Amino acid sequence: MEIINSVKELKAKVSALRSDNKTVGLVPTMGALHAGHASLVSRSVKENDATVVSVFVNPTQFNDKKDLQAYPRTLEADCALLESIGADYVFAPSVEEVYPEPDTRTFSYPPTDTVMEGAFRPGHFNGVCQIVSKLFMFVEPDRAYFGEKDFQQIAVIKAMVADYVAQDAEWAKRLDICPCPIVREEDGLALSSRNTLLADNERAIAPNIYKALKASVEYSKTHTVEETKQFAIEEINAVEGLEVQYYDIVNALTLESVASWDDAEHIQGCITVFCGATPIRLIDNINYK
Ligand code: PAJ
Repeated sequence: MEIINSVKELKAKVSALRSDNKTVGLVPTMGALHAGHASLVSRSVKENDATVVSVFVNPTQFNDKKDLQAYPRTLEADCALLESIGADYVFAPSVEEVYPEPDTRTFSYPPTDTVMEGAFRPGHFNGVCQIVSKLFMFVEPDRAYFGEKDFQQIAVIKAMVADYVAQDAEWAKRLDICPCPIVREEDGLALSSRNTLLADNERAIAPNIYKALKASVEYSKTHTVEETKQFAIEEINAVEGLEVQYYDIVNALTLESVASWDDAEHIQGCITVFCGATPIRLIDNINYK
């Protein structure tokens, strides 16, 4: 496995792979890697001749400076994990390398980037599109892997790629976006780099989020969308130390709220919960149909 810090070197490596007719998989991450990230990387290793994993805490997607500062950084351990699962290249650039000048591009794909996380974290998805579009243009991968943990992020990235396809970008036409299932702890908590920031008492109550979501799927079989939404919110808010920021039940493709279970073919519930005194912001989601 090779660790690459410069864009120039990254481009040289992938263009050599391409001239050898090798397929390239890309897994974008912000590091502090866990089994959720590892599942994406393992899949890429299986499906492509070469796998590039980017490890970069992207400042432009943090709307909260404190969150950016607190974000865990564990590059050495990340590289050890990536090597053990067969990644070929780790791209770990500095901020100056990625943004030699401020990125002033704006991306807008409503409603995917305006609802839920888009509404509560202004500018977040614009920053995600800035970094992910740069990574796509640096690597021009055949496949890129994203976790359903960030369900809305996948919808936004798919909309962005469709927009580049409409503009005739060759790299976008070749690119396949591959969603991967959420990896959870045994007690149901979705793995997240932010979980390491939870105090023991916070870690102990956090699994109630998924527990409530699962119970709500059962409940939904005999109740309306609105009743189901309220049920999940009340179950979680009843736990001391947990507070729902929003819970929305949406069309899984467009992310628009649904009013009835017949409104869409695929329906997803997307939640954000504040956990503990700090508080730590945890996201999760569940499929209803
Ligand atoms: P990060 O939070 O590091 O996540 C990197 C990828 O791992 C994302 O696609 C995310 O959905 C996936 N992932 C995280 N936890 C997971 C879990 N428990 N199960 C399955 N997949 C999981 O998402 C980002 O970074 C950034 O926004 C990024 C796309 C890298 C752009 O900066």
